[in-house]
Amino acid sequence: MQLTIRRPDDWHLHLRDGAMLRAVLPETARHFARAIVMPNLVPPVVTGAEASAYRARILAALPVDADFKPLMTLYLTEDTDVADVLAAQAAGVITAVKLYPAGATTNSASGVSDFNKVRHVLDKMAETGLPLCVHGEVTDPEIDIFDREAVFIERVLDPIRRATPGLRVVMEHITTRDGVDYVRDGGADIAATITTHHLIINRNHILVGGIKPHYYCLPVAKREAHRLALVQAATSGDASFFLGTDSAPHLDVAKEQACGCAGCFTATNTLSCLAEIFECDGALDRLEAFTSRNGPAFYRLPVNEATITLRKGVPVDYPARIATAEGPVTLFDPGFALHWSVDA
Ligand code: DOR
Ligand code: ZN
Repeated sequence: MQLTIRRPDDWHLHLRDGAMLRAVLPETARHFARAIVMPNLVPPVVTGAEASAYRARILAALPVDADFKPLMTLYLTEDTDVADVLAAQAAGVITAVKLYPAGATTNSASGVSDFNKVRHVLDKMAETGLPLCVHGEVTDPEIDIFDREAVFIERVLDPIRRATPGLRVVMEHITTRDGVDYVRDGGADIAATITTHHLIINRNHILVGGIKPHYYCLPVAKREAHRLALVQAATSGDASFFLGTDSAPHLDVAKEQACGCAGCFTATNTLSCLAEIFECDGALDRLEAFTSRNGPAFYRLPVNEATITLRKGVPVDYPARIATAEGPVTLFDPGFALHWSVDA
């Protein structure tokens, strides 16, 4: 059995920098035509000039035969200069702005605490149609980590959207039925990305039988009912939902320790995982919508003309980890055999 689809895009990706960038970029560029590149470097990518310089480093790290376009984002801070954002948008340097609530996740310390301080930026973005990618979790220590997405929708996201009509929002890496419902019923100005790993793991995978640091990511995986809601949304064909892998490499030494980093590295085997999930759900004919059509439609970009072919056969072997100049990075293990490979 085989399936040919338009080349996919990854609408949420961490490429990092330096040695890590050089190691992980080919893993994405092999299959994906474009990716929305997250700006949470240390220090973060805050200005148009920084985004431009980061894009140049990514292009320099691409394998010679690669056909891949990084779509850059700016990291929204309380000091973001709206004129700089607009200039970067006009120059085609950026495709979106990323909102991290301060302290929500990896390298989010420069994010937003007081949403009133970014209101003028959001107003301009609503005017120009520049999408806001949102990490949707509250950081209030009183709120249980498993409830942080649902509470964010109610306390932060919905009020922002009501106060800023026309603001185009991508709720990134949704992990709950609440997220699915909010986005599905939210009209044309909101969409959501769904990761590969959140379609596969629930919180038991992280905690049962010993703690599994390579399944720990943020937002943390929730209970099974939520995973099922995500699968239903992804495989439905609904244009509000598209792939953003949130592939987030960390060195194994940074994950396998007393306070391990959040992130699953899925760039290498994402398409094999997705084909398995969609096939299982009887939805292979809707895989292309999720990976290759719904994202460009929301971002108002053309779909890719090139195609890839997925082929079903004997189980595909992926390496357990990939090497970087600074040490290994463990690849996401879906916990089941993968039968679909992507033709070279
Ligand atoms: O698991 C995650 N890893 N979630 C995020 O929001 C950030 C990411 C990272 O940069 O490592
Ligand atoms: Zn991310």
